[in-house]
Amino acid sequence: MIMGANKKIMIKIIKDGPYRVTGGVPLLEQAIVTDDNGNTRELIDIKEYPRQNTYILCRCGSSNNKPYCDGAHRKIGFDGSETASRRPYMERAETFESPDLKITDVYELCDHSRFCQRSGGIRNLIQKSDDPEARQTAIEEAMICPSGRLVLWDKKTGKPFEKEFEPSIVLVHDKQKGCEGPLWVRGYIPIESADGSMYESRNRVTLCRCGKSENKPYCDGSHWMTREQKLEFRKKWGLE
Ligand code: FES
Repeated sequence: MIMGANKKIMIKIIKDGPYRVTGGVPLLEQAIVTDDNGNTRELIDIKEYPRQNTYILCRCGSSNNKPYCDGAHRKIGFDGSETASRRPYMERAETFESPDLKITDVYELCDHSRFCQRSGGIRNLIQKSDDPEARQTAIEEAMICPSGRLVLWDKKTGKPFEKEFEPSIVLVHDKQKGCEGPLWVRGYIPIESADGSMYESRNRVTLCRCGKSENKPYCDGSHWMTREQKLEFRKKWGLE
């Protein structure tokens, strides 16, 4: 039993500073694994950090004691302004449909870990959903989308395909891009803004930990993408 572990599970964003995590949330490190064609496929465990009731995670990307904050945000004058929309996911989502499946998509949440591109990409896969393999691949791609940008729905039941996660935080290591990725926050952990308001609680979201996202507190892929690469990606997805 961890002392004080009954404190409320929560992530509190500190103004121009770190994330304060309470409630004994497990902290893990996982690496993105690719298939033979170089497409990202899954995340594998690398490490589990010792359980702590409260811990403070770096949000600015400059700590010398990552993943924890060491106060460097003050020295660098970190601007952690939260610019992300507060509107609920479903109000903002675009929809793509096939006869029996539906994808909802909020591009701004994308952390660019690229799980949705395998086997021709999830939008193509749902068009072939009478093929059990294509359907299964689409389900896997949606359920592992760390950022929650994509949700896949079964039109017959009206329910989303979601994996049940214990509330936990994963430090994503993107070996293919040679960098650290976002914090993958799983299992509906409440996230409180620096201004005291709450973000929508979701099963999957990714938070920026490099300090460069233009959609803080969420990750937008800036840990490996230039602005030009992000524009190219938008074009590829027909978002320009
Ligand atoms: S947020 Fe404190 S060192 Fe990065």
